[in-house]
Amino acid sequence: MGFTDDVIREKLHSPVALIRQVSEYIINSGGKRLRPALVILSAGAFGYSGKYHHNLAAIVEFIHTATLLHDDVVDASELRRNRATANAIFGNAASVLVGDFLYSRAFQMMVEIDNMRIMQILADATNIIAEGEVLQLLNCRNSNISEKNYLEIIRYKTAKLFEAATRLGAVISNVNSEEEEAIAVYGMRIGTAFQLIDDLLDYSGNCDHTGKNLGDDLTEGKATLPLIYAMETGSSEQSAVIRNAIENGGEKNFYEILQIIQLTGALDYTKRQAEIESEIASKAISFLSNSEHKKHLLQLAIFSVTRNY
Ligand code: IPE
Ligand code: IPE
Ligand code: MG
Ligand code: MG
Repeated sequence: MGFTDDVIREKLHSPVALIRQVSEYIINSGGKRLRPALVILSAGAFGYSGKYHHNLAAIVEFIHTATLLHDDVVDASELRRNRATANAIFGNAASVLVGDFLYSRAFQMMVEIDNMRIMQILADATNIIAEGEVLQLLNCRNSNISEKNYLEIIRYKTAKLFEAATRLGAVISNVNSEEEEAIAVYGMRIGTAFQLIDDLLDYSGNCDHTGKNLGDDLTEGKATLPLIYAMETGSSEQSAVIRNAIENGGEKNFYEILQIIQLTGALDYTKRQAEIESEIASKAISFLSNSEHKKHLLQLAIFSVTRNY
């Protein structure tokens, strides 16, 4: 990620000190840089030899970072990347506004590339992420959300950017539309697996590894797959405990709910769903000729389900 990080650093520049402070705070706190890696690997797997992949990778990371700044305000989260969130340190207003700065900087960088197809992919992805976050907001404290609606939300809020990242690698490499669609399926599916595991780790992870507080989803009244499955398959008493926690706040019942989730096999089920997504992702790129890039893409499909951070 060396070259991409150079672009990121250069493009963070602003004469406004608070923008530099907040954006550098979150960007320098690390992050897996998974989405930029997908741009670079997708382009590499298609034999790209041009100069735009690092800019595109930086653009995708800026969009991701902007969504995180906004998401932590919306979710009232206090910990990310093993550090206090930007909203906890600089306040909600600064987080929202610097998020806007990063979105619009990403769009300035896209314009520099001067390719309408790339503009379209990134504009659509950014718009769909916003729809996903608003859909999630609408379903806050809704204990009746179906697995299908939950999946739609995670495809929008998370998987769409993974899809865009991989699609960009194909588009700059001028591949045919079947190959572009195939790598887009790979991106969408590993993005879905990635968020399923994120929702699993919110119950079963270790905050030293994830860098985020456990139990945030329950506190927010967010019905993720572990809860949806446990409500569906648990006894009526077990379902009622979860339903009540989603609707009225469940922080106090975290350990009881964790136990129900474990007893009903909801964590295993969630993991299995992520594995299915990851398997579909790997199959989708079987057409690629063998290369280090392809190998890394396949490894990322595995990482998205085996990760603990
Ligand atoms: C966090 O994404 C937001 C989700 C979609 C779950 P990452 O887990 O990729 O965040 P960083 O960039 O590595 O911190
Ligand atoms: C992250 O959603 C998705 C976006 C930022 C668009 P979450 O709210 O589930 O992710 P974390 O747990 O805060 O990283
Ligand atoms: Mg969040
Ligand atoms: Mg959120």
